[in-house]
Amino acid sequence: MVDNSILVERIKALKREKNAVILAHYYTRPEVQQIADFIGDSLALSQKAADTDADIILFAGVYFMAETAKVLSPQKKVLIPDPAAGCSLADSCDAAEFEKFIGKYPDHKVVSYVNTSVGVKALTDVCCTSSNALKIVEAMPAGQKIIFAPDRNLGDYIKRMTGRNDIVLWDGACHVHEKFSLEKILELKKEYPGAKVLAHPECKKPVLMAADFVGSTAAIINYIGTDGGKEYIIATESGILYELREKYPAVNFIPAPPMDSTCGCNDCEYMKLVTLEKIYDALVNETPEVTIDEDIRRRAEVSIRNMLAMSK
Ligand code: 13P
Ligand code: SF4
Repeated sequence: MVDNSILVERIKALKREKNAVILAHYYTRPEVQQIADFIGDSLALSQKAADTDADIILFAGVYFMAETAKVLSPQKKVLIPDPAAGCSLADSCDAAEFEKFIGKYPDHKVVSYVNTSVGVKALTDVCCTSSNALKIVEAMPAGQKIIFAPDRNLGDYIKRMTGRNDIVLWDGACHVHEKFSLEKILELKKEYPGAKVLAHPECKKPVLMAADFVGSTAAIINYIGTDGGKEYIIATESGILYELREKYPAVNFIPAPPMDSTCGCNDCEYMKLVTLEKIYDALVNETPEVTIDEDIRRRAEVSIRNMLAMSK
């Protein structure tokens, strides 16, 4: 196995030689975030993918994120270091099943989280991420009926925040965020009484009800900057701790453990499939490459562009 520092140098050289950009999500491994040109949450990454002038986008994240980059930049080569990096939430919404589901609600607009396949996005009116879901739903005219997919927890949170009862939810979830439990968080609160609880909206309702702040990964990172506290319990995927500790070295971060924890951390195993070795191989061989049927891509693009236009 090649030493990490050698791999890092080789990756940097390949990026220059091939005019490639590496986009990484906050949930990836620390060494992957360190080599990235841009680290962000789903929304920031899709905005970046839409306006980069690189010839190659290497997406250090999960498949739906790389697919979104390809939808927005079809003329570019989009590489995914490990195509097996899927997403349980995206997998919980099959496009054919979804088409049947939306067929039952012909007068509803479809709002889908970006954590979906390109096939689901092609059936969607406006995409959203956890950063802008509230804003996008609030922008829908009063009385407009909505289908929200695929995350039932985020959807339920949006229903509570907007008070809109005309939202039909698809019954999907993220296996990582659903594992956080109120019991474990309350135990931690006894140990760290001064710590605020910050939670991602994909967590279940009892966890969200107990949280001091609910937001996307980027919103959680920014919240700490403005709040200025010294101790936080973090209920989202453990990869975010790298950025939090880099940005706020004087703050104590306590990861909320999953229900069934023996190690105290809550990893998305798909995000952790992205390694430096796979990034290096992908850049050398310019594969695995994301490809999308052009008709589906065009239809999916409309829903993502609608989201980007509404997020400015
Ligand atoms: P963000 O929208 O916060 O990037 O979340 C993406 C994700 O996969 C959450 O599990
Ligand atoms: Fe998908 Fe959950 Fe992993 Fe995010 S944390 S990529 S929603 S499985």
